[in-house]
Amino acid sequence: MDFVGSHILSVSQFDRHAIEEVFAVADQMEPYARRQRVTRVLEGAILGSMFFEPSTRTRVSFGSAFNLLGGEVRETTEVKASSLAKGESFYDTARVLSGYSDVIVMRHQQEGSVAEFADASRVPVLNGGDGSNEHPSQALLDLYTIRKELLSKNKTIDNLTIALIGDLRYGRAVHSLCKLLSLYNNVSFTLVSPPELTLPGDYVEDMRSRGHTVTLSSDMSGIGGADILYVTRTQEERFPDPSEAEKYKGLFRLNQTIYTEYCEPNTVIMHPLPRDSRANASELDIDLNDNPNLAIFRQTDNGVLIRMALFALILNVANQVDTHSRAVNWYTAKRF
Ligand code: NCD
Repeated sequence: MDFVGSHILSVSQFDRHAIEEVFAVADQMEPYARRQRVTRVLEGAILGSMFFEPSTRTRVSFGSAFNLLGGEVRETTEVKASSLAKGESFYDTARVLSGYSDVIVMRHQQEGSVAEFADASRVPVLNGGDGSNEHPSQALLDLYTIRKELLSKNKTIDNLTIALIGDLRYGRAVHSLCKLLSLYNNVSFTLVSPPELTLPGDYVEDMRSRGHTVTLSSDMSGIGGADILYVTRTQEERFPDPSEAEKYKGLFRLNQTIYTEYCEPNTVIMHPLPRDSRANASELDIDLNDNPNLAIFRQTDNGVLIRMALFALILNVANQVDTHSRAVNWYTAKRF
């Protein structure tokens, strides 16, 4: 895969070699993300950050990643604050904003919207999430986290057993992750969800056709034997009738008691976040916060590394990062 100047719209663009390339550059970014060194390799470059749906980590970590490489960020948030609210097309918005930026990251509720925008853009566009379709940078950071967590247990992504729990129908993070995991060998997927919210059939067929085992379960006992538990939030904003989402919240909760009952003691717990901490949901209980296998904040830290790597590859500076660097000159207590 040639990264230079390319859009990142779907994980379908990646093969295992391209994934390894991203991960190698992400590893190289650690001293910068950990505030041990500073690099100015993207000094003068501008990221157009356009998040038309709620976002904390994806928006801020893309922005931080760009800042950590020395570039600047211009943000547009909310449709109602942009000319899309005046009826402007994606085509016109893309033509205009790509004139102001070197690279753009965009999130929008409509499936396919980021690809449509990218078609008209004069600069590379990264998909920060398009409706319930895809979330490529999340899947890459999840896979990177899985690889790191497994490494310390002498396991690999080949032969992995993973349980995906919750709203697998509307969760774009899960959609992209399943596609990436399918590139590996002999993965066992257990899909734990209400029947109405299971993974769309085309994903399941594709995973099976690549030789993976896919088991459907509608209760938490399905998580037994997994190396990784990947918990997700009920995507209430995607339901045609949001009140419909209420009946699914809280059905599959992971807490310390369930974990102890069904899991091996070193089973890794992941979640793309945000977790819904309201009492009727709580799909990932706070009583797991001190469990050392809870990897959710390692995932968010890894997100910065992966996004730095994507920018470095797309803007063709991966080999120049270190030459434009120096040690930090301020007090830093960052612990990772
Ligand atoms: C996810 C998303 O937006 O799809 N969040 C994220 O980017 N980390 C998952 C979610 O919102 O549930």
